Amino acid sequence: MIIVIDGPAGSGKSSTARAIADRLDIEYLDSGALYRTATLIYLEANRDKETFFRLLNQKNISFYYEDQKFHVAVDGESVTNKIRTGEVTKSVSEVAALPRVRSFVNNLMRDVVLDGIYIAEGRDLGTAVFPDAELKFFMSADLEERAKRRLSERRKNNPGLTLEEVKQNIAERDLKDSKRQADPLKKADDAIEIDTTNLSFEQQVDKICLEIREILKETE
Ligand code: DC
Repeated sequence: MIIVIDGPAGSGKSSTARAIADRLDIEYLDSGALYRTATLIYLEANRDKETFFRLLNQKNISFYYEDQKFHVAVDGESVTNKIRTGEVTKSVSEVAALPRVRSFVNNLMRDVVLDGIYIAEGRDLGTAVFPDAELKFFMSADLEERAKRRLSERRKNNPGLTLEEVKQNIAERDLKDSKRQADPLKKADDAIEIDTTNLSFEQQVDKICLEIREILKETE
């Protein structure tokens, strides 16, 4: 069974999905982390597309969720922290716009959710990857609010970061992610929209959990 949350950067999808996975004891899948991993390989290939696609097909990408963290490894070596660097973040929208990368990541995800109950988050999960998902959510929030949340997450590792920089990065990514040709960021017609601008973290988690519990009851 698959439940999806889509939405723009900083809308709270990731922390919310992780809290839900813990509360309901289900699996968590972070599709953005897989695009970030592809981006790391792209940078390793010095942005040469031929080398990149060769490496992408050769390397073994594995992932699992544990202790509030989505862990990713390439050929057995952890890249969990490396995929969160500014360098990767700056290039990820460019790499995620490549149709071959999208089908590669989609296949990884579709294979893994065949077993168990998953909550997955991304940009196009309800529209392109899992159009038949049991339940779909689309999370949104004002740009200002999203930038503030991202800044407080990232400041620990990057004390010099400013609100303006984060705002600019998020706005640029939103634009690229929603204007690209291949599976753009878009709310699925049958997704439940959750605007989190004025909701506390607990409130947004409660709201989504309530809906999921109903579905779980129905399928028992
Ligand atoms: O959620 P995130 O910020 O880690 O995602 C990183 C990038 O990956 C994001 O800018 C767009 C891309 N992405 C995508 O194109 N489709 C998804 N389903 C998830 C992420």
